[in-house]
Amino acid sequence: MSESSKPNTYRLLQQSHTNMPMGVADSYRYWGENNTVFIKSCEGCTITDADDQKYVDFRLAYGPIILGYRDTRIDQAVIKVITERGTISGFSTDLDSEVVELVRQMCPNIEKMRFANSGTEAVLGAVRTARGYTSRNKIVLVEGGFHGLYDEMMWKPDMDNWDAGSGLAPEIRSFGAGIPEASRKHLETVPLNSFEAIDAVFAKVGDDIAAILIEPILGNCGSIASSQEYMQKLRDMCDANGSLLIMDEVKSGFRVAKGGAQELYGIKADLTTYAKAMGNGYPVAAFGGRADVMAVINLDKNGVTHGGTYTANMIALSAAKATLTILNETNVFETINKVGADIQQVLSRVFTKHGIAHKFAGPNSMFGIHFGNIVPTNYRDWKQTNSTLYTEFAMNLIKHGVMLEPDSREPWFICESHRSVDLAWLEEIAERAMAEAIATKQ
Ligand SMILES: Cc1ncc(COP(=O)(O)O)c(C=O)c1O
Repeated sequence: MSESSKPNTYRLLQQSHTNMPMGVADSYRYWGENNTVFIKSCEGCTITDADDQKYVDFRLAYGPIILGYRDTRIDQAVIKVITERGTISGFSTDLDSEVVELVRQMCPNIEKMRFANSGTEAVLGAVRTARGYTSRNKIVLVEGGFHGLYDEMMWKPDMDNWDAGSGLAPEIRSFGAGIPEASRKHLETVPLNSFEAIDAVFAKVGDDIAAILIEPILGNCGSIASSQEYMQKLRDMCDANGSLLIMDEVKSGFRVAKGGAQELYGIKADLTTYAKAMGNGYPVAAFGGRADVMAVINLDKNGVTHGGTYTANMIALSAAKATLTILNETNVFETINKVGADIQQVLSRVFTKHGIAHKFAGPNSMFGIHFGNIVPTNYRDWKQTNSTLYTEFAMNLIKHGVMLEPDSREPWFICESHRSVDLAWLEEIAERAMAEAIATKQ
């Protein structure tokens, strides 16, 4: 991007540099001086940038869009609520229970639930509830998982500097400055799908493990998934040890199946977090699970405190009610699974034609692409894939009108509106993007 190729984007970035650190409202939106995107409008499965380039979007705002942008079925429900009833009052409304009951119909793992405004807040609530219930401290995390931007969840394996041949685990580092060392005191991190590692952690500190917190399908690590056996192992370990299993379904919930990843595995968590697809882009989140665990949220001296000014506001809940009703009553999941499978076929043909070994990971509505010969089983395996080629390929796709995150750790997200995508067009663009990526390397 340059002043001449994208004059409006260029001007907006210069202006925003005078107003915000890095010129963006979220640090991950900064893609450098040449690639940072400013969006003018969104519709269906497309977004249009400030210079009127239109993209078919597979990033979908990191996952929340499940039906399509500006879906009138949701927007009209929200407009009705705000014009006829209001936004917040600081009191309860009938919508609170209506939305919980919809979630309970779709997700048998939920007996009681509370709302939040973001995935981060939902995770914070679930973790605090697990600690309150168990009177224990430790939380076991999985390498490559992401659980939001609050201090305790902002520790991650330093994959960039990890030497795969060292035989050592990657070093755990903070996401940057301002995160106190003390915030990692109660964390234990294990690689996904390693029975040995989870056994070792339970042997070491089992009597203080409040919960295992896991994204069953790593929505922030190329949709690498827990094996069925590993998920069952975690369930059994938690049961035997009096620890709780928290599944973070902020990305997978209401996306990979009506009942989320738990429906696919047939294994229930004790507590679950939701956000993203729950409101088709409106900011709504929740956590919930076993009634006896959630009962620890009370005003007793030893109870867990939860709430907040904007919790269960009517904008969020009217959007959730409308979105969940559609997801529950229509065939959205069939549609997005079919479209996701078709798109993988298209991409696979292109990669094969260019002799690129590749594997897809995760469900069709949220799939990861890995250049290499194996489906990675954890974050350490991901390091062996050709993520540089992926980024080249992705940047070329973006140039030609297909939006996605240029990092193979972020999956492709499918929404109902993608059923209108012209697959022949997509194949042609993917073909060009891969040819250019290969040419750059030579
Ligand atoms: C699995 C998971 N948990 C939690 C979060 C945090 O959600 P939010 O960005 O809404 O705070 C995310 C965000 O991408 C996520 O993917």
